[in-house]
Amino acid sequence: MELPFDGAISTYYKNDAPEDVRRAVKSAEKGDILSKSYPHRSRMGRKVYEAEMALLQIELVKLQSWVRSTGSRVAMVFEGRDAAGKGGTIGRFRMNLNPRGAHVVALNKPTDTEANQWYFQRYISHLPTAGELVFFDRSWYNRGVVEPVFGFCTPDQNTKFFNQVQPFEQMLVEDGIHLFKFWLNVGRAEQLKRMLKRESDPLKQWKLSGIDVKGLHLWNEYSAAIQDTLARSHTPHAPWTIVRSDDKRRARLNAIRTILHRIDYDQKNVDAIGPIDTAICGGPEIWN
Ligand code: ADP
Ligand code: AMP
Ligand code: MLT
Repeated sequence: MELPFDGAISTYYKNDAPEDVRRAVKSAEKGDILSKSYPHRSRMGRKVYEAEMALLQIELVKLQSWVRSTGSRVAMVFEGRDAAGKGGTIGRFRMNLNPRGAHVVALNKPTDTEANQWYFQRYISHLPTAGELVFFDRSWYNRGVVEPVFGFCTPDQNTKFFNQVQPFEQMLVEDGIHLFKFWLNVGRAEQLKRMLKRESDPLKQWKLSGIDVKGLHLWNEYSAAIQDTLARSHTPHAPWTIVRSDDKRRARLNAIRTILHRIDYDQKNVDAIGPIDTAICGGPEIWN
């Protein structure tokens, strides 16, 4: 089997990672602790997680049933650095849903044809029709973060994106689409830890790409682009929900709760949904 990135993450870890990040990863290997700035001292235990998740799964099934019977449309954008947990969170959302009405959209880099269209054009055909939930695993926000960080777009294209993204999203919302935008925020040591694990796990290596290795060196450039993007696209009609995702379990539960609380589906059981943990899930003020 081909292992294209064999060793590149470990090499970064050994030779290039800042000392404090390396130390944090090392101590995480021993005790699996969370970073100092994380609001909880330990990760959520499996039993509590599974019990809470089971209740949320029932609510999600009710939500989908409501979406189908009312012909509603729901679009959810999942953004975040590599290994932030986008794919895993989307997977938990969809676990018990009818896949026919709950699509994942994870587009490849643009083809030549797409690269020469209006930037938003290729996303539009994937927007939900009546009765559908659509999960965007990365989205048009590539042009806010990944593309400028790696030089895949010109500064001009980036500016144009920010001029267009607000009216674009406003049109979707005005047309009746329920639009949600999640930014999963992973810490630097936790990200590196997950990438090391992906590198050594044959089942997870497919999640690594060459630009992930490059991206490790660009942590600060990413941070700046993320701040810029949040500042320019957090709007009343399409606000961002930031989810601190160092503890994947808490992140998944709170992302799901956010959707369930915001949509008024039939037979909603607010007690079963439970409160959102506002220390890890909220508006851009959560960021650090
Ligand atoms: P992922 O983390 O989503 O599995 P990558 O880390 O390889 O995938 O890429 C991150 C994002 O950058 C993807 O959405 C990908 O389509 C995009 N991307 C990669 N290369 C280019 C490129 N040359 N031009 C524009 N976008 C690109
Ligand atoms: P996963 O990809 O879900 O297998 O998790 C990757 C790593 O994250 C694991 O090796 C754990 O160290 C850590 N992890 C994530 N969530 C938890 C948790 N709730 N409790 C303990 N460890 C966790
Ligand atoms: C994930 O953990 O699912 C990620 O956020 C996807 C990625 O590595 O880019």
